[in-house]
Amino acid sequence: MALEYMQSLYLIILTVLQFTHSLEPADSEPVAIPTDKLLVFTVATQQTDGFLRFMQTAKYFNYTVKVLGMGKEWKGGDVGKSIGGGQKVRLLKEAMQNYADREDLVVMSVDSYDLIFAGGPEELLKKFQQANHKVVFAAEGLVWPDKRLADKYPSIRSGKRFLNSGGIIGYAPHINKIVQQWELHDNDDDQLFYTKVYLDPLQRERLNITLDHKSQIFQNLNGAVDEVLLKFGTESVRARNVVYDSMPVVIHGNGNTKIYLNYLANYIPNSWNYEQGCGVCDNDLFDFTEVKEYPSVTIGVFIEQPTPFVPEFFEKLLTLDYPKDKLDIFIHNNEVYHEKHMQKLWVQNKNVFKSFKVVGPEENLSQGEARNMGMEHCRKRESCDYYFSIDADVVLTNTQTLRLLIEQNRKIIGPLVSRHGKLWSNFWGALSLDGYYARSEDYIDIVQSKRVGVWNIPYMAHVYLIKGETLRNELKERNQFVLEKLDPDMALCKNAGQLGVFMYITNRHEFGRLISTANYNTSHFNNDLWQIFENPVDWKEKYIHQNYSKIFTQNLAEQPCPDVFWFPIFSEKACDELIGEMEHYGSWSGGKYTDKRISGGYENVPTDDIHMTQVDYEKEWLHFIREYISPVTLKVFSGYYTKGYALLNFVVKYTPEGQASLRPHHDSSTFTINIALNSKGTDFEGGGCKFHRYNCSLESPRKGWSFMHPGRLTHLHEGLPTTNGTRYIAISFIDP
Ligand SMILES: *[C@@H]1O[C@H](CO)[C@@H](O)[C@H](O)[C@H]1NC(C)=O
Ligand SMILES: *[C@@H]1O[C@H](CO)[C@@H](O)[C@H](O)[C@H]1NC(C)=O
Ligand SMILES: *[C@@H]1O[C@H](CO)[C@@H](O)[C@H](O)[C@H]1NC(C)=O
Ligand SMILES: *[C@@H]1O[C@H](CO)[C@@H](O)[C@H](O)[C@H]1NC(C)=O
Ligand SMILES: *[C@@H]1O[C@H](CO)[C@@H](O)[C@H](O)[C@H]1NC(C)=O
Ligand SMILES: *[C@@H]1O[C@H](CO)[C@@H](O)[C@H](O)[C@H]1NC(C)=O
Ligand SMILES: *[C@@H]1O[C@H](CO)[C@@H](O)[C@H](O)[C@H]1NC(C)=O
Repeated sequence: MALEYMQSLYLIILTVLQFTHSLEPADSEPVAIPTDKLLVFTVATQQTDGFLRFMQTAKYFNYTVKVLGMGKEWKGGDVGKSIGGGQKVRLLKEAMQNYADREDLVVMSVDSYDLIFAGGPEELLKKFQQANHKVVFAAEGLVWPDKRLADKYPSIRSGKRFLNSGGIIGYAPHINKIVQQWELHDNDDDQLFYTKVYLDPLQRERLNITLDHKSQIFQNLNGAVDEVLLKFGTESVRARNVVYDSMPVVIHGNGNTKIYLNYLANYIPNSWNYEQGCGVCDNDLFDFTEVKEYPSVTIGVFIEQPTPFVPEFFEKLLTLDYPKDKLDIFIHNNEVYHEKHMQKLWVQNKNVFKSFKVVGPEENLSQGEARNMGMEHCRKRESCDYYFSIDADVVLTNTQTLRLLIEQNRKIIGPLVSRHGKLWSNFWGALSLDGYYARSEDYIDIVQSKRVGVWNIPYMAHVYLIKGETLRNELKERNQFVLEKLDPDMALCKNAGQLGVFMYITNRHEFGRLISTANYNTSHFNNDLWQIFENPVDWKEKYIHQNYSKIFTQNLAEQPCPDVFWFPIFSEKACDELIGEMEHYGSWSGGKYTDKRISGGYENVPTDDIHMTQVDYEKEWLHFIREYISPVTLKVFSGYYTKGYALLNFVVKYTPEGQASLRPHHDSSTFTINIALNSKGTDFEGGGCKFHRYNCSLESPRKGWSFMHPGRLTHLHEGLPTTNGTRYIAISFIDP
């Protein structure tokens, strides 16, 4: 009993003790430093895109930033490539004199061209206090600039061992005591200077300096790209160091890691939902309603290789919703093959735009030189506000493209375009170490528009808009496109990247697609007809009748005679180009060519025709039948499925002088299609088709429309005489 009593008393005392203990302020939790006792310094002589981004992130988190050196000449050397940066210490030294006695003030000095904030002042100060030192420098795994100093560093059990001067935080008097020691030149190395202070054991102790070995505050990306991943929370996105399990407050794209920083900065800092749109996209937009006149745009068009659908490319370009008198056109056509297209365009449009210049293949310009010339066209005229460069393999389906890009108000921005249904697009989300393609984690989501926004990316091509003022400032060198052995667009991107000009791609809207120029055979007359495999979407848009889909959605197919169906299939262009192709080939059989394809009782029926095989169009034609005719048979002959096997495919020509009609016959097919390729009234008179069993005639065929009727048994028919002009029809006997 007594023992039990003692035990419970003991428990009570223990509980009370614990309770009292918890009332005392904990040693490990000092009073938080108020955020108004934090001052951030940065040195920047120019308002680069990187600097502006830094300031945006600072503003987002409510940091108080003092910028030193703005507008001054930079004398600190090329820090990216060699040593330098002393000017930064000199300016900080001057500025710190005013704060020498401010014991309560915490000062942070950071780079700004390649650095962003990922967390706010409260979090920063808390982590600074937890570091339990008066001064904390950023750390990295590589020793720079003097490798011989590596052994002098205190050894550590884990973490990054070496000092990086891109980030310093500490109490003002301590920082001041460090920077007051600076007596060197502006182009001496700042990191070496700080390193020497830190490596001096006396100073290290007296000034109470440490390094942020485990990226609690400062994350240097150099050598650590693989350690840092995006972590998507419900409200915000952070970068997390997965090796040290930390959430750094400052992220520094030092060394060769600017592209990765740009990638992270597409998400940080924010609270927007990238799946639905993005906050940062709406910063500082260009407002068309606020300007009296639209900006002037030079459009540079580049046809650098034989390209399908060039006439359609120009049709789309001409429908851009933008005042034509604000557009200067510069076209480089490198292909003799496309001169016929250019000629037509020139005749129709030379007086439509403010100016219109074509540089043809006879100039023998390299692609890089041609692009330099187009860009110079804008650069050299102050009145040119924007340069819009577009290659002939870009299908712009959005007539608002130019306005939408201008509205976004970036130095360089491109609309996302990709091959239909493919992951091939006009941008790269990341670069490999040798400067070629690497896939960013978000590439597929962006191409498929699962993430929507305006994205800072390292490489784009085919179509982009650049501000005229950017061409006259950062990109003022005439040569932007000829660099080493690089592809011209690659050279431009590399130059822009090195000059610190950000490039963006937007997928906030759908803009269009890219076509494939591979396997484009220009040895035929109308070569786009052959594109049904390589560019099926564009082939359909050009050659299939506008109302074809209504056969399925609105029962558009008519039935003028029993089991004779009549439906739209070809566009005007398809009809005209097919006739053109046949006439170009020219060897019509002249009615003498016979075989068993048409059986009229006892004898064969000759026609004046050219077979698809003769013009090397058989494979494409059969594919057309499978893709576009089979679905119609399935619908009209309810459930009859055909693989579209067709042995005989030809174009027939009827003329009063040559063959005018075809006597009654059966076709040796399961069913036949008969497509009218030109128009009664305008191109010919007479013609048509009569089905004897039903005493039913079709006398006014429509251009681009097809008849489809059963062959062998029921549909004895004759071709009615063409009385004037020339009538063309395309015939296929299917499932013979
Ligand atoms: C910054 O300050 C404003 C106004 O005081 C406040 O509304 C906002 O929430 C602050 N931002 C952050 C990220 O704390
Ligand atoms: C640094 O300062 C902190 C208090 O701010 C102290 O606890 C610590 O012992 C000091 N460290 C050195 C190495 O002087
Ligand atoms: C075109 O330029 C290339 C290289 O610049 C040169 O090799 C070629 O001879 C030139 N062709 C003509 C026809 O001038
Ligand atoms: C292009 O077409 C022609 C005519 O059909 C053919 O002889 C030639 O082999 C084709 N060329 C290529 C590269 O496919
Ligand atoms: C498609 O149908 C619409 C509505 O019936 C008509 O106005 C239009 O002319 C048709 N298009 C063609 C190419 O015939
Ligand atoms: C066929 O139709 C025409 C007019 O539609 C008519 O005059 C003729 O008598 C018909 N012939 C037969 C055999 O029914
Ligand atoms: C045939 O068409 C041409 C041109 O449309 C016209 O001049 C001529 O009179 C027509 N001939 C007949 C027999 O209708």
